[in-house]
Amino acid sequence: YKKGPLVFYVNGKKVEDPDPDPGYTLLFYLRKKLCLTGTKLGCGEGGCGACTVMVSKYLPDTKTVKHFSANACLIPICSLHGMAVTTVEGIGSIQNGLHPVQERIAKSHGSQCGFCTPGIVMSMYTLLRNNPQPTGAEMENAFEGNLCRCTGYRPILEGFKSFTKEFCQMGENCCKNTGNCSNGVVENGTENGQTSDYLPLDSTQDPIFPPELRTD
Ligand code: FES
Ligand code: FES
Repeated sequence: YKKGPLVFYVNGKKVEDPDPDPGYTLLFYLRKKLCLTGTKLGCGEGGCGACTVMVSKYLPDTKTVKHFSANACLIPICSLHGMAVTTVEGIGSIQNGLHPVQERIAKSHGSQCGFCTPGIVMSMYTLLRNNPQPTGAEMENAFEGNLCRCTGYRPILEGFKSFTKEFCQMGENCCKNTGNCSNGVVENGTENGQTSDYLPLDSTQDPIFPPELRTD
């Protein structure tokens, strides 16, 4: 056992706490100590997903970074030593530009009171970090832990369907209309000159995992 400060990253910034309170959860720490209030407190017991963030960890065996969506209300702050946390503030904002996940849930009217939205956005964002073109089923499974009491889920799923393998942007030329499928699967942007109404997903713009946390 080596005594030392708690070191982890939040949205690319290093947090070094010499005397962390082991009773704090990540949610409390984010909201009260770091003033990042985008992550919401709903049930406080792992049931609603309003507090979902992405936790990233370096796996020395495979030399890869794995991203997990996690309930911040359940994570003891001291368990995050050496990990990177991404909150909804870290992926985009109205001031600096929305992330495509944020833009698509807004354009599809998937947010009403908005309380569940940061958690839903972070579940989708985490899925895309691990798998930039999921299937529709994988996308739906990613929301197993997120509850929304307002939208009835349909607009949320409709918006996020645009990230999936099955999404077709051929418009009137879709094989459903023409009976002639020329593989309308697109990569979240354009195909055959068809432009999307949405911002394209560009994984090269994703923040990198902090090099300091790559420990082999
Ligand atoms: Fe409900 Fe964390 S606040 S799961
Ligand atoms: Fe209100 Fe989801 S938009 S709870």
